[in-house]
Amino acid sequence: MCGIIGYIGENNAIDFLHYGLKKLEYRGYDSAGVAYFNKNQLTVYKKVGQVDNLFDEKLLKVNSNIGIGHTRWATNGKISTENSHPHQSFSKTITLVHNGIIENCTELKNKYLKGINLQSETDTEVVANLLEFFYLKNHHKLDSIKILMSLLKGSYALAILFNDDCENIYFLKNRSPLVIGCGNNCNFISSDTLGFEKYTSKYIEIDDFEFGYINKKNMEIFDKNSKKITKNVKDCANFQKINNKMQFEHYMLKEIFEIPDAIKNTCELYKNFESIKIINKNLFNKIKRIKLIACGTSYHASLIGEKYFREIGFDAYTEIASEFLYNKQIWQKDTLYIFISQSGETADTLSCVELCKKHNAKTLCITNVPTSRITKICDYTLPICCGPEIAVASTKAFNGQVCSLLVLSKYLQFIKKINIKKKKLNKKDTHSTSINKLISKIIKISKSININTFIRQVKPLTQMVKESKNVFFVGKDYDYVLALESALKLKEISYINSVAYPSGELKHGTISLVDNNTLTFAYITEKKLSSKTLNVINQIKSRGGKVVVISPFIELQKFENIDYFIKLPEVNNYFYPIISIIPMQILSYYVSVSLGNNPDKPRNLAKSVTVE
Ligand code: AGP
Repeated sequence: MCGIIGYIGENNAIDFLHYGLKKLEYRGYDSAGVAYFNKNQLTVYKKVGQVDNLFDEKLLKVNSNIGIGHTRWATNGKISTENSHPHQSFSKTITLVHNGIIENCTELKNKYLKGINLQSETDTEVVANLLEFFYLKNHHKLDSIKILMSLLKGSYALAILFNDDCENIYFLKNRSPLVIGCGNNCNFISSDTLGFEKYTSKYIEIDDFEFGYINKKNMEIFDKNSKKITKNVKDCANFQKINNKMQFEHYMLKEIFEIPDAIKNTCELYKNFESIKIINKNLFNKIKRIKLIACGTSYHASLIGEKYFREIGFDAYTEIASEFLYNKQIWQKDTLYIFISQSGETADTLSCVELCKKHNAKTLCITNVPTSRITKICDYTLPICCGPEIAVASTKAFNGQVCSLLVLSKYLQFIKKINIKKKKLNKKDTHSTSINKLISKIIKISKSININTFIRQVKPLTQMVKESKNVFFVGKDYDYVLALESALKLKEISYINSVAYPSGELKHGTISLVDNNTLTFAYITEKKLSSKTLNVINQIKSRGGKVVVISPFIELQKFENIDYFIKLPEVNNYFYPIISIIPMQILSYYVSVSLGNNPDKPRNLAKSVTVE
């Protein structure tokens, strides 16, 4: 997803734009650019590549008190300087940066911009020329912006400079995130508070169809009826600050080390579960089935959640968000739709929420970003508390999401009085006691997690993974989901093709790929299923493949067909999905780094995919 920033104040805008764009790098990008006034001259400077390359000697010499900046993750149009932002209108009246997608761009271009010679393939340049078209007609900035908003369809967060006004930055927004940072004799615009958190923790959230402008002392914000509005100034100081990477080389390793705290803090949040304002007994009393919807790692967490709900005898299904939109849905009013999204900004998932709302369905989201869009459009929000996750590969959020789903399933069990022993039911205040007991157990487990112990176990496998042509992950039941998440983690940051299979499925075709260049990781965390997966290990070994087992059952180490054994701590069955993934999160990191990749910013990927 793209990132936009803007600064106007008494200090040098270039310093802020550099800081802000670096802070927005985590959103994923392939080019960056800035626009600034210098002696009333509006200049655009943009390049393909890293932010640090953009802020070269030439740019760092500039002194300006107003500017906008952008990190672009290519969607409309290839990766090129011409397609990078900021974009200018034909006569350079308008310069702007954009995060989002304009769905009716071609229609607007054909209707209003006939004969205009566009320099890029982007929807953003069309927006700049559209705004110029109206501004040159009515010479009123806010009226022109209002007309523009009435025409645009799709998602946008726009920061705009008019070449005849070096005192104000204009903005408008729909669906893409936009916040204003309130400083001393300066104001900021950003896609999120990280863009200016070093300068101020005071911020204003801009909502859909709001527009206006900021200058160094003031701002004016208008609602979709062009009524001037006053908005609450919030404080993001209480969000877990993103320190720098501290002693870690990458955010991903820092965030893996934060997994124990992520689990603990999420569970602490759930103590006295019903005190979480969203937890509404009536909601849960009325539902008869749950549908979980998400993408990527969050989808894998949903699959674990589905199993947790089914364990207590509750009807639950999971769908990939981008499929849910097109699968025929049977809408039933006693279904609760649960959306899982670390960022809360994933377009595929947000579109599913909007589809559910069109059918008056009940929606609950589980997210790590309390200010994200998904919290605004879902009926209920169950937050996880893992702290900002910067690395593109999601790690601690997965552990937090699984905890959240385990606690929610336990809560549901008591609310619905499913499979509860009679003697338990007549005890006072049963469910909150039981939930708090569960939470205490999870917190105890989180304190027993030793990341360094896992590193010592898995780091020696780095070379073996690097040399493998194919890497398979296999498992049964919960372990198959862990295999899915492991395969995603490895491939997305090492670029090694790695695939997950239900262990019983290998023999139905894929085993033909097994040879002495194949490495298979087998999860065995359910004792009753271990013999089945050991059979699969024999099948792999007899065809020359290498096998690594990830399991808490030390007795398996003696099994002659295992090349390497990764020992998990022994915990109650339900808790394995929370911790069993950690070794592969770590190993994927080391393989990526040893291949010379940057695990925080893997190629082609963005931290949150805000386009469908
Ligand atoms: C996970 O490592 C990936 N970065 C990706 O699959 C991610 O989980 C997916 O895009 C969903 O993101 P969300 O949780 O923010 O909605």
